[in-house]
Amino acid sequence: MNTFIFVFLLSTPGVTAVLHTMRYFYTASSDVPNFPEFVGIGYVDGFVIGHYDSNTRRAVPKQDWVKDALGEDYIESLTARAMDHQLRFKAHLENLNQRFNQTGGVHTFQNMHGCDWDDETGEVNGYDQYGYDGEDFINLNLNEQIWIAAKQQAFITKLNWDNDKAMMSYHKYYYTQECPEVMKKIMNVGRSFMMRTDVPSIQLLQRTPSSPVTCHATGFYPHYAEMFWRKDQEEKVLEGVDHGEILPNHDGSFQMSVDLNISLIRDEDWSRYDCVFQIKGVEEDLTVTLDKSVILSNWRKSDGGGGVAAVVVVAVLVLVAVVGFVTWNKCSPARCPSGFTGSHTSDTSSSSPGESDPNKETSEEQREMRTLIS
Ligand SMILES: *[C@@H]1O[C@H](CO)[C@@H](O)[C@H](O)[C@H]1NC(C)=O
Ligand SMILES: *[C@@H]1O[C@H](CO)[C@@H](O)[C@H](O)[C@H]1NC(C)=O
Repeated sequence: MNTFIFVFLLSTPGVTAVLHTMRYFYTASSDVPNFPEFVGIGYVDGFVIGHYDSNTRRAVPKQDWVKDALGEDYIESLTARAMDHQLRFKAHLENLNQRFNQTGGVHTFQNMHGCDWDDETGEVNGYDQYGYDGEDFINLNLNEQIWIAAKQQAFITKLNWDNDKAMMSYHKYYYTQECPEVMKKIMNVGRSFMMRTDVPSIQLLQRTPSSPVTCHATGFYPHYAEMFWRKDQEEKVLEGVDHGEILPNHDGSFQMSVDLNISLIRDEDWSRYDCVFQIKGVEEDLTVTLDKSVILSNWRKSDGGGGVAAVVVVAVLVLVAVVGFVTWNKCSPARCPSGFTGSHTSDTSSSSPGESDPNKETSEEQREMRTLIS
């Protein structure tokens, strides 16, 4: 089961960003006990809008307003679409198993796709990226309308997909028009929800007296936020600082942390250091001053229940980081893409006559479905 844990990294374009994103993540896996063989999750601006898996076999919107935005019929069509992807991904897994000379075991085939929309310039970018066993496999270069094989074994896939002109023009349409349109629709209805700003609670945590002090902020929204250590109210501390990634919480909010190595800081200088949190939409910084008396730790006697709290907090961090997020390596949402359009034929041998016609697979109806997922 552990093999199947990937962390969804939401790198942030900074507090002033006006970039909105819609993203779908699909993961098919083989031989992972107690885990559905196919899972899909859809996000708008990092907010989970819906979910599908091979156990429930239903695309389920996360909130009522998502259902309102898309309509029941549309959501039905998403279910059908997701089921279709499930079959396709299974075929891909089997094919790749052979191509990599593997004989069973735990394997994953994943896709991330979606689009970004800059609400100031109106610029739209689309992404479509596949991974096998946690590594990049093949990516779409939308501008040049070609697929880029990230692995030698993906080359045959690239040739097949490059030759599929109908699919390529569909991608062009989907990523530049439909994807941003559906995203705007969801954002319009969910605006009050998604355009809100929630400030986090911030705590200082420390494992041992010599460990770095972790400044941890959780519960903020949106994820356009920054956190850093500051000295004397002005200077950003660069040395001995370790930034964590922004991670999603279950409730749609986010968390992040930044560590400060305190081994070179003299006791009397502690109060010169602040942990600073900034979020888009809030002018004032949130700050916490480095102070032994406010740190939650496992070892400090004076903090009563705080030690337990710190342990719990750390455990929750790990859990939250893990649950429900599937994806592979470091792609920032802006750069990493994905697009699932998913209707590629399974491409083991370049001209497998039994494969279905990709043109047929992208009927209007199916195109409609390509939205949420999972
Ligand atoms: C798979 O096996 C074939 C035949 O033995 C070999 O030519 C090929 O290089 C192998 N592929 C991989 C990815 O190991
Ligand atoms: C903190 O800094 C000290 C001195 O530079 C170094 O020896 C130590 O390894 C650092 N601790 C961590 C956790 O990076």
